[in-house]
Amino acid sequence: MGTTGSVITASESTASTRPRVGGAVVRQARLQDAVNIFELVNSLSGDGTLLRRSYAEICENVRDFHVAESEAGVFLGCGALHLYGPHLAEVRSIVVKPEAKGQGAGGRLLRGLLEEAEEQGVLSVCLFTRIPDFFFHFGFRIADRTTLPDKIYKDCQACPRLYACDEVAMVRGPLPKIAVLGPTKIAQPELVKLQVGHIAHPAEEQFEQPADKNAPNDP
Ligand SMILES: CC(C)(COP(=O)(O)OP(=O)(O)OC[C@H]1O[C@@H](n2cnc3c(N)ncnc32)[C@H](O)[C@@H]1OP(=O)(O)O)[C@@H](O)C(=O)NCCC(=O)NCCS
Repeated sequence: MGTTGSVITASESTASTRPRVGGAVVRQARLQDAVNIFELVNSLSGDGTLLRRSYAEICENVRDFHVAESEAGVFLGCGALHLYGPHLAEVRSIVVKPEAKGQGAGGRLLRGLLEEAEEQGVLSVCLFTRIPDFFFHFGFRIADRTTLPDKIYKDCQACPRLYACDEVAMVRGPLPKIAVLGPTKIAQPELVKLQVGHIAHPAEEQFEQPADKNAPNDP
């Protein structure tokens, strides 16, 4: 999904024969969408359907989001793709306004996010959800959550439902072979290895260090 939007017509959004009402456009989010995203996502965070996102967090990560809007430009829904790295991405905060449900916007948002993962070269896409049936439509399968340590360390560790989680982990594509977060890191062949020894701070390279008056003279 690029920056140009694509129009959902009455018939193309899913394989369903169910009639679709009207159309919608899915496009990448702009900062001006942050308030709508904030209000819609957090309207479903109270019961744990979606993770709560602060307004600041949404602004900071607004480039992760796609939004769906009506042909008249009315905001209908949103979804985000979080990139952990080339090994894994996650679909987050996918939601459609109650009055726009069942018209293809959610499916179109999800397909846009999956296209973006593909453009970024990420084959493994994960998510945690209470409605796996929706995601089965799009090639996701249920996975053991311990195969997704990055997700656990990013969100679950701090979640009040850590030991009472009612969501299922799902993955589309291969399981990730590496992780980049948390104390336990699996094999990291794709990570850049830091050089052993002194790594110069940029300031050290740009400015000559003042002589230390107390330092012993060079022989
Ligand atoms: C899940 C959600 C985004 C789907 O959006 P939507 O616009 O209603 O979905 P679509 O109309 O594009 O539906 C696409 C397909 O998924 C199916 N589907 C939609 N919601 C579903 C659900 N809750 N369970 C199972 N299948 C579902 C539709 O029947 C349709 O299949 P079909 O084409 O064979 O009929 C929307 O219901 C929503 O906002 N839910 C609340 C937030 C939420 O739970 N988000 C997921 C958090 S992980």
